[in-house]
Amino acid sequence: MKKFSVVIAGGGSTFTPGIVMMMLDNIERFPMRELVLYDNDGDRQAVLGEALEILLKEQAPDLKFSYTTDPEEAFMDKDFCMAHIRVGKYEMREKDEKIPLRHGVIGQETCGPGGIAYGMRSITGMLEIIDHMETYSPDCWMLNYSNPAAIVAEACRVLRPNSKVLNICDMPVGTLRRMSQIIGKDPQDLEVRYFGLNHFGWWTSVKDKEGHEYIDQIREYVAENGYLTQIEVDTQHMDQSWQETHKKAKDLLAVNPRYLPNTYLKYYLYPDYEVAHSDRNYTRANEVMNGREKEVFTAARNIIEKGTAVDGGFHIDSHASFIVDLARAIAFNTHERMLMIVENNGAIANFPDDAMVEVPCIVGNDGPEPLAQGKIPAFEQSLMFQQVTVEKLVVEAYVEQSYQKLWQALTLSKTVPSAKVAKDILDDLIAANKAYWPELH
Ligand code: NAD
Ligand code: G6P
Ligand code: MN
Repeated sequence: MKKFSVVIAGGGSTFTPGIVMMMLDNIERFPMRELVLYDNDGDRQAVLGEALEILLKEQAPDLKFSYTTDPEEAFMDKDFCMAHIRVGKYEMREKDEKIPLRHGVIGQETCGPGGIAYGMRSITGMLEIIDHMETYSPDCWMLNYSNPAAIVAEACRVLRPNSKVLNICDMPVGTLRRMSQIIGKDPQDLEVRYFGLNHFGWWTSVKDKEGHEYIDQIREYVAENGYLTQIEVDTQHMDQSWQETHKKAKDLLAVNPRYLPNTYLKYYLYPDYEVAHSDRNYTRANEVMNGREKEVFTAARNIIEKGTAVDGGFHIDSHASFIVDLARAIAFNTHERMLMIVENNGAIANFPDDAMVEVPCIVGNDGPEPLAQGKIPAFEQSLMFQQVTVEKLVVEAYVEQSYQKLWQALTLSKTVPSAKVAKDILDDLIAANKAYWPELH
């Protein structure tokens, strides 16, 4: 079987050790000959790199491993780039969350003004790594889960239309695991229909391979409990604040009982509730810095100090195995059915062709083929149209360096109450993002 050469862009990510462990766990399904970590923050990456070098020597001595900040070394001779960069790191996530909250607006990583600010930063970083990939390995595929995926995907559509970049999100994967537990099934045995944008969509069907429909049974459960389940199957979304989010799906379903909602809709449908339940001085960025980031980097330092990863603190991120499924779909033409963020082109019949939407796709060696989801109702369609226009305006603002368009983007976001508040937030975001955003005129 062919063995693949892989680069992880954003090697210093809190997710890198879990994903490397997951790839090791799946090495028979997806054989690797080389694995390189790439990051533009050498010091941050070196902590994880050094620890993983120790671990891989013990667990996979035949796998060639290195970590580097040199694009040529990183991207030369690669088949796949797994990308999870965070331009501006946690320092900027904290600002994305706290600045809007100061103005009484939700502060969130990918939704509302925070997501817009992050998008304006991410586009530059994404273009940089796409260009490195294409310079050194023109046939390489990028499997991207860097956020905000909706804006990143739209930027790729506009600015790198022929690049082999696949944008994917783990939220539907995590929530499907919860649904599978609700109905006592294996997630592998379920097939869904779904439409929306990234972090903004609905399941319209959840069936097993025999064609039995479970949506009514799941709806009944969600109407009572949201997606909170007894045994935790969705290992990434476990902190208390995530539990609140799973629970809140109950209220999302109440307003629109027809379909099963993506949990991120809470920021658009209940922004007042979310603001009232946020701590302006301690947001999710603080939780992650004091939680996942600390745990992962402490575990790495322990491994380095002891010189062994036996009984070390890195854990397999089994929920991320969809990344291997996606790589296999491309590498082995498996025709796996997965939700992907793709150009609509008729998949949602009554939605613009040039919108980046999230729908089920069949993925083979040419990439994803979207499955037609038909026409959608006016409620969802209008919400989506508003949101996709925000995303398009952000990319236009980036390209044209237009203050006006970014102001419009913020004004149009359902999370922002007025053009005045939008402008106040925008001016604060510009000041905070000086080192990252293109200058706006
Ligand atoms: P993190 O800050 O721990 O790691 C990101 C790394 O990217 C940092 O080491 C940083 O130095 C590096 N980086 C930043 N800009 C770069 C550039 N231009 N080139 C190379 N490296 C660069 O962040 P994290 O919390 O581990 O998250 C990583 C990313 O994964 C984020 O974008 C996050 O939103 C995303 N994510 C996406 C999903 C999904 O479902 N799509 C799920 C989880 C996380
Ligand atoms: C989900 C989303 C990701 C997002 C992550 C944030 O997995 O799909 O797009 O990055 O949550 O999680 P965190 O634990 O960093 O708040
Ligand atoms: Mn996501």
